[in-house]
Amino acid sequence: MEVFIMNVIQALNARHSTRAFLPNQVENEKLTAVLEAAARTPSWANSQPWEVFIATGDTLDRIKSGYQEKYADKTTPTPETPRPVEWSEAAKKRQQQLHPDMVRDCGDAVEQFGLLNRTMFNVPAVIYICMNKVLSQWSLYDIGAYSQSLMLAAIEHGLSTIPAITLVHYPDVLRRELKIADNLKIAIGIAIGYADKENKINDFVSARSHLSEIVHFFD
Ligand SMILES: Cc1cc2nc3c(=O)[nH]c(=O)nc-3n(C[C@H](O)[C@H](O)[C@H](O)COP(=O)(O)O)c2cc1C
Repeated sequence: MEVFIMNVIQALNARHSTRAFLPNQVENEKLTAVLEAAARTPSWANSQPWEVFIATGDTLDRIKSGYQEKYADKTTPTPETPRPVEWSEAAKKRQQQLHPDMVRDCGDAVEQFGLLNRTMFNVPAVIYICMNKVLSQWSLYDIGAYSQSLMLAAIEHGLSTIPAITLVHYPDVLRRELKIADNLKIAIGIAIGYADKENKINDFVSARSHLSEIVHFFD
């Protein structure tokens, strides 16, 4: 199994969201290695609230078709974690910068953004992370950490990822195809596969705020 060794900071800098994938299947041994590494994520009282469902092959094809029907019917997406009623001014400002920055890095390739989201980025595997509905927001915190562990571990295996709300737009389709029990909340989907390096949409390097904007040092 080919691995790309890098230190943690290099991996943090290397990770970025990939929005166009090659059709190549992800080897099971690589998926297993990534999931085993991600299991080292800390969680409150070691509760390990993540329950993971992986969609590949025919199952993922059925999910993609199910989503296409929903989009064709203009069904309103209903992710199980609601969108914020209101964004803070700072978050809104950063969000509004996303599109112009994408145009700067990717040019016309940005026009595929909506379609790629609706077609699940043509990815060959999606990792859906769920948690029991009785748990609190602390478990969602743990799942965020788990997601980042998983995405960093993927890099070591030459795999690219994107966490996306669009992947959890239609929970009823996911519940049907993945047999997800009612007591679980579907938190997020992470697309995982080999990046299509020819597609310029993957050239996007999202900006980060200057430390002075977000960190308040006191001594
Ligand atoms: C919870 C979450 C949901 C996201 N949903 C989407 C999405 O639906 N579609 C998309 O194209 N990107 C989505 N993203 C990717 C973000 O746009 C991306 O992480 C952000 O712009 C920073 O860029 P980077 O991941 O390349 O560093 C999501 C990211 C997170 C963490």
